[in-house]
Amino acid sequence: MALSDQIKNKMEAIRYQFPTEQALLIPLLHAIQKERGWISKEAMVESAEFLHLPLAKVQEVVTFYTMFNQEPVGKVHLQLCTNISCWLNGSEKLLHCLEKRLNVGCGETTKDGNYTLSEVECLCACGTAPVLQVNDEYYENLSEVKLTQLMDELDAKLKTSEGNVIGKYVDSYPRGPKA
Ligand code: FES
Repeated sequence: MALSDQIKNKMEAIRYQFPTEQALLIPLLHAIQKERGWISKEAMVESAEFLHLPLAKVQEVVTFYTMFNQEPVGKVHLQLCTNISCWLNGSEKLLHCLEKRLNVGCGETTKDGNYTLSEVECLCACGTAPVLQVNDEYYENLSEVKLTQLMDELDAKLKTSEGNVIGKYVDSYPRGPKA
């Protein structure tokens, strides 16, 4: 699969804002992930060719940041932070709740393809730990009760909506990137 015209046009439109080709790499990877849901090896090669970078430079970035999916994920990607602030505020219990409810372990996707569960490092919202990122949105100050409520809401939305149309939780402070 080659880079779509939509992605190429977008990159051309913002290229002037970046001092080097390498600096354009992260916006390019975000655009690919938004379109395809993940960054395949093929996508890394395409990115390297498009930006005239060594493939290793692209691999370095994709494998460093957990925000880039190296495998396909479900319609809803649940990324639970288990770093120090979140851990001190109960993220381990939340992780067990999610594993039990979804019947998957970290890094796995439910059989129906609805949810992927991932454990991630600090999401930079330590003051409102524990934090769960649901696709592009943050859900903070979570408790087991709030998490259950959130999952019930997500289940209901998945039954009625197509794709990744997931709204925000009432107590959340969404900080994820907006389209
Ligand atoms: S430790 Fe979880 S957001 Fe920082």
